[in-house]
Amino acid sequence: MERSGTTWTATTLRDLLRPPLPRRPPAPPVPRARHGPIGMRSAPISPLDRSRLLRVGAIDIVCSIVNMQLWWMGVTMLQGLNWLQEWHLYFDQTNFIFIANEPGTVKSKDDLFTLMKSRDFIQKYVDLIEGQEIRNIVEFGVFEGGSLILFNSLLKPKKIVGIDLKLPLEHLDGFIKERGLIDNVSVHYSTSQSDNGKVSGILDREFGGEPLDLVMDDASHLFEHSRETFINVFPRVREGGWYVIEDWTADYNDGAPLANLVHKIVDMGADHRVLNQIVINANFVAVRKGKAQVTAADLRDRLA
Ligand SMILES: C[S@@+](CC[C@H](N)C(=O)[O-])C[C@H]1O[C@@H](n2cnc3c(N)ncnc32)[C@H](O)[C@@H]1O
Repeated sequence: MERSGTTWTATTLRDLLRPPLPRRPPAPPVPRARHGPIGMRSAPISPLDRSRLLRVGAIDIVCSIVNMQLWWMGVTMLQGLNWLQEWHLYFDQTNFIFIANEPGTVKSKDDLFTLMKSRDFIQKYVDLIEGQEIRNIVEFGVFEGGSLILFNSLLKPKKIVGIDLKLPLEHLDGFIKERGLIDNVSVHYSTSQSDNGKVSGILDREFGGEPLDLVMDDASHLFEHSRETFINVFPRVREGGWYVIEDWTADYNDGAPLANLVHKIVDMGADHRVLNQIVINANFVAVRKGKAQVTAADLRDRLA
């Protein structure tokens, strides 16, 4: 595993997701020889020697405890994502509970967060971004804060910003304060993803012009909203960064289905200078930015 600055490489993530390899417990400390060569008679121990030996013994014990501690830290880091159940992940001293169909009934509390991404879904994200440096992240659609906090724990980005229409979530804000995450995690409530002016202001302030490495749109899943967000935010993604539209099969009978946006984006993909790669699976469509600078006006034309 490697960590550069505060960012884990994604190789680490892959390691983290692998089932833990059985590890041998550390060898017990070898007792120091306290006798002369075998066959020689031991000399009687003077009180001074006895106290020295006791001191050495005590130091040995402390060293073994420290070694055990380091070994255990290594094991837990390697074990990484500790799925206690298919729907229950314990990571970074936090419980994450995947709730599929009943989002209204389960609230985050204490060190427990509900999230709307399954184990398989999270694995797909890990496969997508492994080996890449992910420093700046935006998530549209925070719900109870589960995936925001999980991505922060997993990727240790410089900054992750959540944007949601909701009113402030006391629990999430409290957690961010308690865990000292104020500089890394910030949440903007009462903000619609389609309010381009407000969203732009937030991104300007939060990232100060730095490009984005990962954008996750998991908000309204409506065609118009999602298109506005793409037009507004995709130009901020760095070359090689990812823009992900989740649950793209959603169709709320409220205008066009979200899949229409995906068709339009795929059409645009013919120009590989703009889109370098498109990954589509059952959970999301991920678009990787190409070399070309693209403006919101360009995108508005192309996605009309
Ligand atoms: C599917 S949930 C997000 C789940 C979360 N990302 C997770 O994985 O745990 C959708 C969220 O989008 C928010 N939302 C709905 N319409 C929105 C809009 N127009 N702008 C911003 N957020 C919106 C909802 O309040 C809700 O919290």
